[in-house]
Amino acid sequence: MTKVNLGVNIDHVAVLREARRVNDPDILQALFVACESGADQITIHLREDRRHIQDVDVKNIMTHSKLPVNLECAIDTNILNIVCDMKPHRATLVPEKREEVTTEGGLDVFNYSSKICYAIEQLHDSLIPVSLFVDPTNEAMQKSKELGAEMVELHTGAFANIFAMLYGNLSHSNHSIKELEVPRYKLETMLEDELDKIKEASLYAKKLGLEVAAGHGLNYANVHHMMDIDEITELNIGQSIIARSVFTGLSDAIKEMKRLTTR
Ligand code: PXP
Repeated sequence: MTKVNLGVNIDHVAVLREARRVNDPDILQALFVACESGADQITIHLREDRRHIQDVDVKNIMTHSKLPVNLECAIDTNILNIVCDMKPHRATLVPEKREEVTTEGGLDVFNYSSKICYAIEQLHDSLIPVSLFVDPTNEAMQKSKELGAEMVELHTGAFANIFAMLYGNLSHSNHSIKELEVPRYKLETMLEDELDKIKEASLYAKKLGLEVAAGHGLNYANVHHMMDIDEITELNIGQSIIARSVFTGLSDAIKEMKRLTTR
């Protein structure tokens, strides 16, 4: 069984800080706690709207992190220039819409292939390996390989949403999903189908020589499904860890996730 690296996404620490625009909670303290609590990687997303992580955070994290930093970013000229300057250990290209609450769906590697290819070349020129955040389909794996990525991160949002409908941790605001009122037996089939998609895409990506990560909506209840897929060697998890840390502290929240993601 291959090791799984846990990437802890600390964006939400900055979300809380930006709610008041003070330096509290301190993102560097989150970095140090993560380093000491078993995280294998720090993941942050520099959004175009700077709603959480700021440029100075990236700089400080790059300066002080003992762990590899996975910097998520959109295909935007300004952001890509900053990423190239910051030289993270890896850049993950993600789709980004200003109006969305979080990253919804994977990169459209088919309609934006030339932009993505150009972004990958720019990052490679700065010696930064590239992962593409994509939906779990064989076609997306094939295209990611053709575009020159070293890695793919499979978007597990659809899986997480179905899991939440079945086992009930959807928030009151997620009406679009709740209102579907899908019968339980159908949800169980949908969950199996989604997991099969993730398994098949992981296997195919590995055959193509791509490294395979997964992320989005993973939590303490559903992450064990990812652990059954041997090709997945990295999980990037934010919301559930930071949410739990409100009650347990960040260190315990990370240690528990690390325990659940150790093979
Ligand atoms: N991976 C990627 C590429 C993401 O964009 C996000 C969300 O910022 C995550 C992982 C983490 O998702 P979550 O916060 O739902 O754990």
